[in-house]
Amino acid sequence: MNEHGTEHGDELADQGSAGFGSTAVRLDQGHIEGTGHLPVRFENPGMPPHIPRAADLDELAAKRAEKQVAAFFGISMLGTLVFLVAYFAIPMEAQVFLPGIGKANVSNIVLGVSLALGMLGIGIGAVHWAKTLMPDTEVVEERHPLRSGDEARRGFVSTVLNGGTDAQLDRRPLIKYSLGGALGLFALPMVLQVAGSLGPLPEDGLSKTPWKKGDRLVRDPEHTPIKATDVTLGSVFHVLPESIKDSKHVLEDKAKAAVLLMRLEPEIIQVAKERDWGYEGIVAYSKICTHVGCPVGLYEQQTHHLLCPCHQSTFDVTQDCKVIFGPAKRPLPQLKITVDDEGYLVADAPFREAVGPSFWERG
Ligand code: FES
Repeated sequence: MNEHGTEHGDELADQGSAGFGSTAVRLDQGHIEGTGHLPVRFENPGMPPHIPRAADLDELAAKRAEKQVAAFFGISMLGTLVFLVAYFAIPMEAQVFLPGIGKANVSNIVLGVSLALGMLGIGIGAVHWAKTLMPDTEVVEERHPLRSGDEARRGFVSTVLNGGTDAQLDRRPLIKYSLGGALGLFALPMVLQVAGSLGPLPEDGLSKTPWKKGDRLVRDPEHTPIKATDVTLGSVFHVLPESIKDSKHVLEDKAKAAVLLMRLEPEIIQVAKERDWGYEGIVAYSKICTHVGCPVGLYEQQTHHLLCPCHQSTFDVTQDCKVIFGPAKRPLPQLKITVDDEGYLVADAPFREAVGPSFWERG
């Protein structure tokens, strides 16, 4: 058994119980806890022998390393330039088929790969530079109080001041300028991403939906038109405009145009005659909650209440979808509907107000 094993533990237990309550407890030969003496448990192996690098001994190897570092910074510059060009040149809709992945957005792939090259080039170049050309001195740092001594502080300042010289920036202008170019260019994608994320301006995109006069109401997702006679009492339809199939931005348009269609007994509808935008008791309301835009997907046919599952806003369909509970502040906007010559339900006008949650300039 070694000196720190069980035998020693038993010995300690004996000694500990004997000396319990005293300020010093014997733990090891030559070490008394509480006295500040550390036990000598193993030999300090010291530092391994220093092996100089090729670039330390051979100027040709150093030149080679310098070129390799510059090449990595060059790859970074190339990646950054590709990013900048691709950001403007590749249309957002362009897609490509990748085996094993399927359809993928070309812009995302090119921007991702080029940005990765931009970062990796700088990272690998810096690591290679440090491993081949930067000072190769091995340093031992002893434990010390957290505050550095005055001499260490002076040393730090001088290290920072002499860092450029130690890193051979003065002697190797190729690295200095290629690193400057790579870092300088690399700032541009950051600026571009921030600036690009701010636009384009929504213009009237928040105020308008794809609904227009004469648009047939079609089932979602079957995309089949609905006759007034299909809508029975108590039923509810999830509806989109027929024209959405031609939209270039189907998901965005669908998020604004989704509508719920229900039939009520006409006599329970409590709105003024001129404000009755339904058709023989059939009414259509925006499905987008006016709180923060969740789909209002639950219809309680006994009470004629629409419920938003996100925060429980509740709208009374008999009172023009007035809010009767929850955090929503506005009724769901109504879509004015009628029927066409073939008896299919169509929009009689676009939405008269913006659907969904509040935004600046909503009015
Ligand atoms: Fe509908 Fe909050 S999004 S209640």
